[in-house]
Amino acid sequence: MRAAPFAVLAALALAACVDEAPPDGHSLFAENCASCHGADAKGGGELAAGLPVAPPDLTTISARHRGVFPRDYVMSTIDGYSRGLHGAQVMPEFGDGNLGPTVIIEDGEGNGIPVPVNLLALAQYIESIQAP
Ligand code: HEC
Repeated sequence: MRAAPFAVLAALALAACVDEAPPDGHSLFAENCASCHGADAKGGGELAAGLPVAPPDLTTISARHRGVFPRDYVMSTIDGYSRGLHGAQVMPEFGDGNLGPTVIIEDGEGNGIPVPVNLLALAQYIESIQAP
């Protein structure tokens, strides 16, 4: 019976994560993406050398898009939604994984679009590490 209190605590902590705590993009990145893209997101993850396509440096995305962070492109790449358009095939899709509950954000034209919170957190984290 000793384990019971810990089980309850763990369940509470999990509930708190799901219901209240905003997702932490940095932790999500470290857990799901750093193995390929590297802890610093520059492409040198431990799995990188074994891939047929090198994981891109994620800190230079804005620089490669005329200085503007392409949020929608980044989110589409992660969830696999536009995989056909961008031809990304090596990176796994995260769309059917646990991307969390959906929130509504605005696209460039003021339209509301539904986005899972973890996907948004990942995109915001990547935006925050763009090279100047
Ligand atoms: C198995 C290795 C692997 C994992 C894990 C991975 N990626 Fe990738 N990623 C790639 C590769 C390789 C590409 C280049 C496109 C392709 O061929 O798939 C890429 C492309 C991208 C791009 C487009 C970059 C650009 O410059 O256009 C983004 C953004 C991205 N990944 C974000 C992520 C995020 C966020 C995660 C974690 C949720 C993640 N990746 C997990 C291998 C990976």
